[in-house]
Amino acid sequence: MSRHLEGKVAAVTGGGRGIGREVARALAAQGAAVVVNDLGVTVAGQRETSSPADDVVKEIKASGGKASSNHEDISTPEGGESLVNQAIKEFGQLDILVNVAGILRDRMIFNMTIEEWDAVIRVHLRGHFCTMRPATAHMRERRFGRIINFSSNSAQGAPGQPNYAAAKAGILGLTWSSAAALQKYNITVNAIMPGAATRMTDTIPAGRLPGTRPEATNASGTPMDPANVPPIIVYLASDEAADVTGQTFGASGYRISRFTHLEADKIIYSDGPWDIEHLFKVFKQTLGTGMKPPRMTM
Ligand SMILES: NC(=O)c1ccc[n+]([C@@H]2O[C@H](COP(=O)([O-])OP(=O)(O)OC[C@H]3O[C@@H](n4cnc5c(N)ncnc54)[C@H](O)[C@@H]3O)[C@@H](O)[C@H]2O)c1
Repeated sequence: MSRHLEGKVAAVTGGGRGIGREVARALAAQGAAVVVNDLGVTVAGQRETSSPADDVVKEIKASGGKASSNHEDISTPEGGESLVNQAIKEFGQLDILVNVAGILRDRMIFNMTIEEWDAVIRVHLRGHFCTMRPATAHMRERRFGRIINFSSNSAQGAPGQPNYAAAKAGILGLTWSSAAALQKYNITVNAIMPGAATRMTDTIPAGRLPGTRPEATNASGTPMDPANVPPIIVYLASDEAADVTGQTFGASGYRISRFTHLEADKIIYSDGPWDIEHLFKVFKQTLGTGMKPPRMTM
């Protein structure tokens, strides 16, 4: 069977656990050399004593693959640069960047502290910038790159996650802007909205997630096994997907979906500046019809 990523070099942030671990293993199984990054933190972002990146590297090597571990914090410029430089130093180049690392600090907007807000924006949104900046500089020189970013359904309106929803929606803007800027250099940038049972979803109260979801420890072999997320990522990382950029794909269970871009679904015009009294008169029958609330799922 042919392998789709033979000769490629990949970096995966948050590759030590959950979905990131499965992404790193899948890329390696398809022939890529993988730098597995993981800082080793709790779901809330507190430091742990060891990094799980080393375990994933051992697993990949034991299966005959090529990998090395990186333990830096990807929400810092130094961490992002270290990841890209390590790929170049150890494997000669960086072709594929998958930004998976993430944390949660859920709280209703009216109770959220500035520290909870900053911590989540930092790891997700700033973290994506900190790896993408040095990675795109290198990929632009080589006129080749595949970047896969991690957004979330929560971007569409999860009520108890204002920081996370904002970061994940910001990642979509970053993905679209970068896709538009980098297409001419043969660099594609796409986003994933995943769904899988991990320690992260274990923290969410039952009933807040759509459908039923096993606990992370029981997920293996079920539709919500995080190993079901990587196939679309392997495709997007391959040469085959050269024309796929600026897109958002859902990958959850055995379902892969494609999302539309934001589009105006109703437009009203005025011949000149809008008369406020006229807008009050027409709003309900025009822009105010058929309004959908934001999706309230996780
Ligand atoms: N599990 C889901 O259903 C789901 C749904 C939507 C989005 N996501 C997103 O998918 C990604 C993976 O989530 P998961 O469920 O596998 O979570 P997880 O907690 O199992 O894994 C996240 C990993 O990121 C690492 N990490 C956190 N901060 C880091 C930093 N600053 N530098 C380097 N590594 C860091 C952690 O140590 C951890 O190993 C996240 O971005 C998450 O927001 C997951």
